[in-house]
Amino acid sequence: MNHRDQKQVVLITGASRGLGLSILKLLLKDNSFHIIATARPESLHRFKEEGLAESEHLWLRPLDVLVKTERDTLFKEAEDKLDGIDILINNAGYMLRAVVEHVGEIERFKQMDTNFRAPMALIRRALPTMRRKRSGKIINISSVGGMMAMPTMSVYSASKFALEGASEALWYEVRPWNIKVTLIQPGFINSNSYHNVKLTRESRRAKEDKSDPYYPHYSSMIPFIERIMKLSPDGPERVAKKVLRVIRQKNPPLRVAGTVDARFFYVLRRLLPRWIYHNALYYSLPKILRWGKN
Ligand SMILES: NC(=O)c1ccc[n+]([C@@H]2O[C@H](COP(=O)([O-])OP(=O)(O)OC[C@H]3O[C@@H](n4cnc5c(N)ncnc54)[C@H](OP(=O)(O)O)[C@@H]3O)[C@@H](O)[C@H]2O)c1
Repeated sequence: MNHRDQKQVVLITGASRGLGLSILKLLLKDNSFHIIATARPESLHRFKEEGLAESEHLWLRPLDVLVKTERDTLFKEAEDKLDGIDILINNAGYMLRAVVEHVGEIERFKQMDTNFRAPMALIRRALPTMRRKRSGKIINISSVGGMMAMPTMSVYSASKFALEGASEALWYEVRPWNIKVTLIQPGFINSNSYHNVKLTRESRRAKEDKSDPYYPHYSSMIPFIERIMKLSPDGPERVAKKVLRVIRQKNPPLRVAGTVDARFFYVLRRLLPRWIYHNALYYSLPKILRWGKN
């Protein structure tokens, strides 16, 4: 049986906290969607803590985006009962904080798998239905890190650059079926999510070891980023509103700046010659003259 009754079916990944949770709460208020809010199995309890319970138009489902069987089970249920997903919001992701020299191969794979390969797998699962219906939206939560790279965020940036490249190609590929692809690029979101940044085995050690060559990188960048995040005027609720606007737009743009600083960096990169841009950014890094002295 099809329970859809005209509501668009939205799938949100990583919806139990942070930006995903804000998107979920905003879409619930709108009341015009059937929402499939997903979280890793061990994080599902957060929905209850947030006062969210299943209803006819809100499904709460386990989904670790890295687990193929969980992806398949979810899509099969959505296809059988709801005629598939109309709007896919690839939000789940995390940031690995480490310089290139401190990222092991497995750590690198996991960052790329979560932020790039899993969204690609979900998109592949969603597209056949969207093509059949000749409509659909794919909204990928990217980052300013997908437009510019910063020290100690190497592989995070690589994962978001990859997401940006593939999404741009996809934008052309699926336009003939009226499927819209949008990248939301938040910069620094004013939230607690910096507590969720992950360190690698080596960066965890180096950030505590004053004799490590990269100690100044970590000891200056970590508080610097936390400070900027706390000063940002854009909380997750404001970024969520941009996502809702994209959902409502008939022809949303491929890229949407998620925060004020995202727009600032975009303009800076476009206007300044590259060598000026890179040098200006380099000399703006906190305590940069101490780097390389260990
Ligand atoms: N915060 C920022 O300043 C900022 C800036 C630019 C872009 N972004 C992007 O915005 C998105 C949301 O981040 P956030 O700020 O809301 O961070 P957050 O508060 O740490 O939330 C991240 C969410 O992703 C989920 N997640 C991580 N790995 C997962 C997996 N394997 N399977 C399913 N879910 C997984 C987390 O679930 P668990 O709780 O179970 O770990 C959590 O719900 C990310 O793509 C991030 O890169 C954030």
